Parts: sequence; structure tokens; C-alpha cells
Amino acid sequence: MAAPRRARTRAIDVVVNRKRRSFTGPPFRRLIDVLREDFGLTGTKEGCGEGECGACTVLVDGVAVNSCLVPICQVEGQSIRTVESLGRPEALNALQTAFLQSGGAQCGICTPGMLMTATAWIEQGGSDDADAIREVLAGNLCRCTGYQHIVNAVAATVRDRRGTRAKKPSPTPPDPLALSRRKSEEHEGKGKGEATARTSTRESVPRASAKAAGRRKRAATRARRAAAGDATRQASAKVTSPVNARKADMRAMDTREMGARKAGMHTAGSRTTGSRKGGARKGGTRQASNRRRRT
Ligand code: FES
Ligand code: FES
Repeated sequence: MAAPRRARTRAIDVVVNRKRRSFTGPPFRRLIDVLREDFGLTGTKEGCGEGECGACTVLVDGVAVNSCLVPICQVEGQSIRTVESLGRPEALNALQTAFLQSGGAQCGICTPGMLMTATAWIEQGGSDDADAIREVLAGNLCRCTGYQHIVNAVAATVRDRRGTRAKKPSPTPPDPLALSRRKSEEHEGKGKGEATARTSTRESVPRASAKAAGRRKRAATRARRAAAGDATRQASAKVTSPVNARKADMRAMDTREMGARKAGMHTAGSRTTGSRKGGARKGGTRQASNRRRRT
């Protein structure tokens, strides 16, 4: 009796680009063929078909694999991502934009594989170091040899991603021109405000307050003058007090006496020819001797 033949077809469920898909067919059918021919995702390209060029790279549970070497039964129940998951032609993602801007895509045959390998690198937190990127992309060949542009694109995307994460909570950077404009407006407003405040203060001072201020000023002047008058009166009181008056009289008497003495000395001196000191004495002596001589 002949052994029963194994079923040539099988239903295999997978998740492709976040959509559940079911494949029914030979379980050893190549993944690239299922993606392109059964699911219609033609973004994935076939280069060598032998696992050499990396053009057919897709991500299986986040890991880059050559879809030309993987049978569909091997990825049953797993999540597969193709280049269609990155962006749409009208809305490219950051990496695709970087490829476009850096000239990383030339004929485009290797580009889907490059993009998927680079995506795995970036999502796993890869660095922007050129040598590391070259090593990661070593399994992807580019016949157009635009490797440097490809490496530049990947590095730029890594840097942008880091910068975006670092700057995430920060708001939109302030416009320096707007800032300076606002400052000048504030400055002008402040000046205006001060002027207004001054004006309004001046205008809003009530008349009664102005009168009160005038009264206070006049009272202060009077107090100042009164203090000055007290000082003058005190000074005059010093002179006119009985004790001081007596002292003043004595001083006056002394002065008068001294004046009289001086006057007398001058009179005596005028009758003598000698010096003021002793002249009167000598002259008096001479007059007395003359009188004695005449008698
Ligand atoms: S086509 Fe898959 S590695 Fe070349
Ligand atoms: S761009 Fe042409 S093979 Fe890479």
C-alpha cells in the first residue's frame, strides 16, 4: 500500500505591514514570491535570488532577512515589514526623504533592501558612525556604487531622530526678531506707562491735598523761622540778663577808665619833651626844679 501524499498546499497566516494576511499554497514558497506575487507588494526587489545582494531584504519581527532565502512556512504567525510600510510616494518618511535628498537612490534596485536594513539599524538605536553603518549595510550591494550617499542619508536620519527626541518637550524656538520687537515695545510701553503714570498722578492730585501740602510747607517755614527767632532771642537774653548787664557795665566802665587813663597820659606827655615812659616824671621834676630856681 502506497504512503499517503503530503498536502502540497497549506494555509499560512502572517502579519504584513500590520495587516493580517493569509497565504494558501506551497509552504516552501519563497517569502519574496508571496509578498510580490500573492500579496501584490512589489516594493521588495529581487536581485541575485541567492542571498548575496540584499535587494530583497524585509524585516521579520524587526530583524532584516533576505526574503529570497526564507520559505513562507518559516515566518508563519510572524510580523513582516516591507518597504511599503515606511511611507507613501506622496508622504515619504524621514529615511526615504534623506535618501532622496542625499542622492542615496540612483537606479533604485538596491534601495528597498537598503532602506529596510537601515530602518532596522535606526529602530534598534544604531549610531550615526559611518563605519558602523557601512558594516550594517555590508550585506546590501549597490551596483550603482552610491554607498557614500547612502551612508550619509542613514547618518543624517539617526542624527535627526536624536535631535527630535532631545528637543521633543521644547516649544517652538522663539523668533529673535519678534523677541527684540516685543522688548522694544515693552520698553516703549514702560516709558509711556511711566509718563502716563506721572501725568495721571499730577492730574489726579486733588486740590485739597495740594492745599494741605501748601499748609504743611508754610508751617515748616514758620517753625524754621521761629527756631531762628528763639536763637536770636536767646542770644539777646544773654546780653540783657541782670548778670550779663552788670558784666557789660563793668566792661564799659573798664573801657572808659582805661580811656581816661590813656587821655591823662597823653595830656601829661604833651607837656613834656621826653618819652612817654618816664617823660612825665622827668618833666615834672624839671618843672619843679625851675619853679624852685625862680623862687
Ligand atoms: S535577491 Fe535576495 S539577496 Fe539578492
Ligand atoms: S542604486 Fe542602483 S544598485 Fe543601488
